[in-house]
Amino acid sequence: MSKNILVLPGDGIGQEIVAEAVKLLACLRDDFGLDIDMDEALIGGTAYDATGTPLPDATLDLARESDAILLGAVGGTKWESLDISVRPERGLLGLRKELGLFANLRPAILYPQLADASTLKPEVVSGLDIMIVRELTGGIYFGQPRGVRELDSGEKEGFNTLVYRESEVDRIVRVAMDIAMKRGKRVCSVDKANVLECTEMWREVAVRVGNDFPDVELSHMYVDNAAMQLVRAPKQFDVMVTTNMFGDILSDCAAMLTGSIGMLPSASLDENGRGMYEPIHGSAPDIAGQGVANPLATILSVAMMLRYSLGQSEMADRIESAVMKTLDEGFRTPDIYSEGMNKVGTEEIGDAVVAALRAN
Ligand code: IPM
Ligand code: MG
Repeated sequence: MSKNILVLPGDGIGQEIVAEAVKLLACLRDDFGLDIDMDEALIGGTAYDATGTPLPDATLDLARESDAILLGAVGGTKWESLDISVRPERGLLGLRKELGLFANLRPAILYPQLADASTLKPEVVSGLDIMIVRELTGGIYFGQPRGVRELDSGEKEGFNTLVYRESEVDRIVRVAMDIAMKRGKRVCSVDKANVLECTEMWREVAVRVGNDFPDVELSHMYVDNAAMQLVRAPKQFDVMVTTNMFGDILSDCAAMLTGSIGMLPSASLDENGRGMYEPIHGSAPDIAGQGVANPLATILSVAMMLRYSLGQSEMADRIESAVMKTLDEGFRTPDIYSEGMNKVGTEEIGDAVVAALRAN
């Protein structure tokens, strides 16, 4: 039976990069027999402009019915002055929460061709292959109470709540452990257990879960040290597992190790492995509409979709090889450009990946 993919381009460069991923999916469908249907819907600022909400019911309904979701990016300067409850980001957060997409996998892999594109020394990053497992539906992003209140003095006070239940920690650490079993069998759980009670409990649960995985070496690190270690000696890590907010921050940091934030894909999975796939970068309003955004993170997100939600790991491998070949051939968007390479735009590099896929 054909699988239904919901495509949500969103805002800014989301439109441009998703178009390239859709081109690739269409090629897989037409030339390689991938049995899919694609629907498109609104999310983020674009949805707000059209409907008054960043997550229209129609989008949520389609998302619930789909087998997998491909998302571009949300947000932009245009919507920054809106009330936080209807900002574009709320559309994405709402989708994650409503669909129970608690497990966010963010692989940071350095393609050897891009060793020069990283701001870190090649010997520090070459061979890098880290999997960041970010908890995605809890923590300070969703904790109650939250808001801004006015004190008797007239001064305003803003507050958010970092909250995790044992069960939420348990399930995300298990995901990290399962992944580690298929890789280097090492998990580093990142917390701030020296200051925050909530993450002290996180650490206790991680240790407990770790006992069920005797083959996995579990370590713990405070988040400040983890940020430092990521830029000092990133190859010490195999799988990192952490809270929603720490994962948000550390994954941007890890992205730059790979040369560009435009290279990092992600998968957000629910209990049953159903998922949403998106590049980890944002909508980049500064370069939106110029045709220069790097679509490779989105294209690599399609590979993750094929592997995790559509049971097509062979096609996923093909996409990854096609990206490799495209880089081998010297195609580079400006964010990953280095001397002597062929600087191209979004569409050209997308076309090159499709051509590489066909040639393989
Ligand atoms: C990410 C993004 C989002 C987040 C924003 C757009 C809400 O930064 O996916 O990392 O903070 O989770
Ligand atoms: Mg982020």
